[in-house]
Amino acid sequence: MSTVVITGGAQGQGLSHALAFARLGYNVVIGDLFPPEHTLMQAAVQAIGQAGGKCLAVQCDVTRGDQVEALFAQAAEQFETIDVAISNAGIMTFGATWELPEEQVWKTIDINLMGTWRVDKEAAKYMLKQGSGRIINISSTAGLKGTPNLGHYTMSKFGVIGLTKTLAKELSKHGITVNVICPTMVKTPMTDRPEFVDYLNKMNGTSFKTFAEADEALSKKRAMGVAFIEPEDVTRMIVWAATSPEARLITGATLTIDAGSML
Ligand SMILES: NC(=O)c1ccc[n+]([C@@H]2O[C@H](COP(=O)([O-])OP(=O)(O)OC[C@H]3O[C@@H](n4cnc5c(N)ncnc54)[C@H](O)[C@@H]3O)[C@@H](O)[C@H]2O)c1
Repeated sequence: MSTVVITGGAQGQGLSHALAFARLGYNVVIGDLFPPEHTLMQAAVQAIGQAGGKCLAVQCDVTRGDQVEALFAQAAEQFETIDVAISNAGIMTFGATWELPEEQVWKTIDINLMGTWRVDKEAAKYMLKQGSGRIINISSTAGLKGTPNLGHYTMSKFGVIGLTKTLAKELSKHGITVNVICPTMVKTPMTDRPEFVDYLNKMNGTSFKTFAEADEALSKKRAMGVAFIEPEDVTRMIVWAATSPEARLITGATLTIDAGSML
């Protein structure tokens, strides 16, 4: 039985990935900020179980090296191998580059970039011992282009791509692939909130009141008629990169799901 470790797995894209791996019969280990008894964690564990996977839910803040180490140690102890690691935990806050307080920038770097390095570091240790594994990092289209009011976020997400390519090269002789996914905007709690609607209004000169209103109006302007993709769109690409024989020789790749937004 194969095992996947997913950070930020309690909700949003991480939960969508967890459910897909559960349906494939994987043991699923989710790490998130919340303790196992938190309602979000309990709901995730229940849904993962119903989808057919054994689940271990661990409180793990990716800014804490000791907690990331413990996450992987618990996963290995309970399930033996670690076949797939998905570094998904992330945050997004807003501010023009010249207005960002240093603390806000460091926090974003610590979670999105350093957190990915901490996850990759632990995953690599176990996968090197096994001589196999697939690591998936999560960047963004904001890791590929300038994105006003997200300077700190773009710094972190560009960094994740550099780390992915380096680790892919380091692990290439060991049967381990490392790839990075760059989604455009995704419908999750990260985007479906008033702060994100404010950000969209600032960027587009609009006055949307709700996420649904913004989604509908912006979709009409998009190349493929979609402004926000679904978490499952990202999940399908991850499952392919992490499990398919076709992806066996794909490593260091930047896999973009942009619904035409980068055209
Ligand atoms: N939603 C989007 O539009 C979008 C687009 C491109 C990339 N991404 C990236 O996809 C990933 C998942 O985002 P999402 O949309 O599901 O967001 P989300 O906010 O819905 O979920 C993120 C999860 O990460 C957890 N998390 C936050 N800080 C953490 C920490 N320090 N340690 C452990 N867990 C932590 C949160 O508790 C939450 O459960 C993130 O890396 C994000 O940057 C999101």
